[in-house]
Amino acid sequence: MANVTEIAPDIFRLSAFNPQANFQFNSFLVRDEEPLLYHTNLRGFFDEIREAAASVLDPSTIRWVGFSHFEADECATLNDWLALAPQAQAVCSFVGARTSVGDFAIRPPRVLDEDERIETGSHRFRVIETKHVPHGWDASLLFDEATRTLFCSDLFGHNGDVEPLYEGDIIARTDAYNSAQKEGPMSHSVPWTRETGPILERLAGLGPETLACMHGSSYAGAAPEALRAFGDMLERLYGGN
Ligand SMILES: [Fe+2]
Ligand SMILES: [Fe+2]
Repeated sequence: MANVTEIAPDIFRLSAFNPQANFQFNSFLVRDEEPLLYHTNLRGFFDEIREAAASVLDPSTIRWVGFSHFEADECATLNDWLALAPQAQAVCSFVGARTSVGDFAIRPPRVLDEDERIETGSHRFRVIETKHVPHGWDASLLFDEATRTLFCSDLFGHNGDVEPLYEGDIIARTDAYNSAQKEGPMSHSVPWTRETGPILERLAGLGPETLACMHGSSYAGAAPEALRAFGDMLERLYGGN
């Protein structure tokens, strides 16, 4: 079963680990009147993640399924979750719905405009459109205004079967992982465009207190500063290209 840890009030990190890749694949489950799952995870981890979710709440009561962009680790089992939870609906960006989710999902997704929120009971979620951050035209991130948790997807990705929540220097850890990649820095997974810095600045401006990261530890520290430093790291790696 995936490792289950409450990283913020009623926000549970469900962490599956691939030893060959030495890489964690994390889903997040929010326990509330209308439960929300963020990242469906890979097909190979479906049973593991479902079992972990069931240790927190009845998976058939999940109401919302969110993810940043259309890739297997983020949403391959969307339709399995929609089948398991009859009330569940995907929640995504407008571009996400138009490019993939509207066609792929067995039920239409809920699209949130910039100023819209989903209230699930004690949590209040908004979708932040973040085109190409971490990657993909359809990229968006979810922010819980109640706990100030930013579900930041592949940002700050790092390897190892690491602890659920880290308060140390997450940039150093991310940078060390990136430097070790044979493919090049960040495996070229996060592009740098003239919009990247302003998007990261906008995320910092939300005032997050916890970063729920998909690959590696979640972060409880100076999250706005970490987002800005992440942008500086990208600029250092790619600036001028
Ligand atoms: Fe991704
Ligand atoms: Fe991912």
